[in-house]
Amino acid sequence: MSFTKIAGTGSYVPQTVFTNDDLKQFVDTSDEWIFTRTGIRERHMTQGETTLDLAYHAAINAIHSAQIDKNEIDLIIVATVTADYAFPGVSQLLQAQLEIEGATAFDINAACSGFLYAMQIADKMIKAGGFHNALIVGAETLTRLTDWRDRNTCVLFGDGAGAMIISKSDTNQITDIITGAQGDTDLLLVCKNPDLKDPHVNAISSQDHIHMKGQEVFKFATRIMPKTVTDLLERNHLTINDLDCVVAHQANQRIIDKSARDLGIDMSKMFSNIHKYGNTSAASVPIAIDEAIRTNFLKKGDRFITVAFGGGLTWGGALITL
Ligand code: UT7
Repeated sequence: MSFTKIAGTGSYVPQTVFTNDDLKQFVDTSDEWIFTRTGIRERHMTQGETTLDLAYHAAINAIHSAQIDKNEIDLIIVATVTADYAFPGVSQLLQAQLEIEGATAFDINAACSGFLYAMQIADKMIKAGGFHNALIVGAETLTRLTDWRDRNTCVLFGDGAGAMIISKSDTNQITDIITGAQGDTDLLLVCKNPDLKDPHVNAISSQDHIHMKGQEVFKFATRIMPKTVTDLLERNHLTINDLDCVVAHQANQRIIDKSARDLGIDMSKMFSNIHKYGNTSAASVPIAIDEAIRTNFLKKGDRFITVAFGGGLTWGGALITL
């Protein structure tokens, strides 16, 4: 039986920072409203860097942290809803830019839960015996899909990328991963692709923006995140007291706070960096895990759960010992 572990992590955000006050030039809002309702103070925004660029820098940092030769990577999965092209995928362009010969590479889309889905796929592909070292990346330039006239959504999102090397291991460190979906037929959180084109009209495609029914998404998030953590604990015969910390998707500090209250876990065990980055979708979880490790919030030997929810609607959680 082969096992898996996190061999290294990395992250990268573009340099340009937009504070809540900066957003006042686009919409009627305030730092006070945004911070009290979401916990966000600022976000990073790309000024020309593509999703591939962000993914590349995060990947390089993860490879350094894992201290492996990049040519030992045989699987690359990128979770994103903001790929630079419909095809090729970010993963395949990343493979070329990293000059990793012949690795299997593909993108997946499960919105903000995408990184958990990527972890699960990589974990299972390694445990099944076919692969040794997976580079998985969550990378987004979500500000490209943002409607800068809509104060309900534009204050929430930021750009960034996080990466992880998952490797074959003698010990069972990535213990369990669960994911799930419940098709969003009520269109609570959506961004449409360009319409089908009528060749007789021959018009240029235009891209839609993010639309969200915030309160409904809030209710879904505060139900599904505690449930996912509880499901993981129960099926592994653990209780909340067996965890050293929880690294949740950074969508709204109030969602993190309510999830912690419902789980009965002390807030000091909940990692949070939303004030600096906003919601970076699929990049949120790997950026948070990388930062938790780099700041010593997460230490070698710690047992933690990382959990996310997102558009789709989707969710996922992983029980890991570092
Ligand atoms: O990764 C997935 C992502 N999505 C989420 O996680 C979103 C989950 N939902 C939320 O986080 C919250 O629902 C929001 C932060 C989006 C909104 O917070 P809320 O407490 O649910 O506010 P609300 O939508 O009920 O709006 C309250 C008021 C409204 O004004 P009126 O109708 O009471 O006069 C809004 O128009 O706040 C107004 N408002 C704003 N005011 C200033 C909405 N956005 C803003 C804004 N600045 N940016």
